[in-house]
Amino acid sequence: MEHGHVAADIERVVASADQIQARIKELAAQVAKDYKDRDLLLVGVLKGAVMVMADLARAIDRHLEMDWMAVSSHGSGTKSSGVVRILKDLDRDITNREVLIVEDIVDTGLTLDWLKSNLESRGAKSVEILTMLRKPEAAKVKVDVKYVGFDIPTDFVVGYGLDFDEKYRNLDFIGVLAKHVYS
Ligand code: IMP
Ligand code: MG
Repeated sequence: MEHGHVAADIERVVASADQIQARIKELAAQVAKDYKDRDLLLVGVLKGAVMVMADLARAIDRHLEMDWMAVSSHGSGTKSSGVVRILKDLDRDITNREVLIVEDIVDTGLTLDWLKSNLESRGAKSVEILTMLRKPEAAKVKVDVKYVGFDIPTDFVVGYGLDFDEKYRNLDFIGVLAKHVYS
């Protein structure tokens, strides 16, 4: 897709649609291998992880289940608050389940650090993390992330599920949002 309507808002492309799809296939193959003969429950974090989840799940050639959580750590701005609230909880109990959290981005790490301990405390057999993007230089806490799509600089990015003020999620690529959009 062209997405010409956002051309003026995107400073540069961080990952093209083709690069994203190629990386998803690699991650899916790795997950299928690591979870061979094991249970697999993908837990997507709404709303950002919708695109990653949809593409990843379809690229994994085996039975799996999907569940969703919604947490809030950002307001409508571009900075992490560190305060995490559950807006929508899982539908089912995860006692003894092998959980793989599916996320769009690890920025400060505060959200995932909190979410991982939360799911572990419910008696999951294992809790691992897959994220499409990670900003290593923005880390405030060390989170053990097993699968990373791309490590990127600290700039604010949008697309492929990631939003600014709920917009740009529908882009099939990921790009740095131009500063004039939010300043
Ligand atoms: P945290 O700072 O690692 O806790 O990130 C929490 C959430 O902030 C992520 O799950 C995203 O929803 C959002 N976020 C962080 N960085 C960005 C960004 O560059 N673009 C859009 N959303 C972001
Ligand atoms: Mg998110």
